[in-house]
Amino acid sequence: MNILFVCLGNICRSPAAECIFKHKAHKAGLAVTVDSAGTSAWHAGEKADRRMQQTAKNRGYELTSISRPVTSSDFDKFDYLIAMDDHNYDDLRQKAGNAAQMDKVLRMRDFFSDKLYDHVPDPYYGGDQGFETVINLLEDASDNLIKFIQKQ
Ligand code: 4NP
Repeated sequence: MNILFVCLGNICRSPAAECIFKHKAHKAGLAVTVDSAGTSAWHAGEKADRRMQQTAKNRGYELTSISRPVTSSDFDKFDYLIAMDDHNYDDLRQKAGNAAQMDKVLRMRDFFSDKLYDHVPDPYYGGDQGFETVINLLEDASDNLIKFIQKQ
C-alpha cells in the first residue's frame, strides 16, 4: 500500500501527515510506503516550515521531508492520494489522468472522528495554535486511516 499526503505548499500539513501516519503505521505493523507532495511547487526543495517542525518536535515527531510538487506519475505509484482540504482535493482531481486515478483521491476529513472540522486548516498565515490543531487532526485521522487500510 502506497499513500501520498497532499497540501498546497508541502511544507506544513502534508509533511506532518506523512510523518505522523508513518509513525503510527509502523507501530501498527502496517506495510506502507508513505510520501507527501504539494499541489504547488512554490516551496520545492525546502524543508518543512520551522513552526511546523517545532510543533511536531514538541509532540514527538521529526519532520524530514523536502517539498516537491505532485507529478502525474504519483497517480500511478500511489494507491491513495489524500488531500488536506477541498481546494487540494479539487486540484488533485483535475490533475488525475482518468476516472480510476480520480477515485484514488480522498480527503483527510473522511477519517476525522468528529465533525468539528471539515478539513485540515492551513496554518501558514496564523498563530501557534493552528499548528497544534494540525497535529491533533492528523493524529486522529491517521488512526482511522490505519483501520480503513487494515480492512482492505
Ligand atoms: P501547507 O501550508 O499547504 O500546509 O504546506 C502552506 C504553505 C505555504 C503557503 C500556503 C500554505 N504559501 O502561500 O506559500
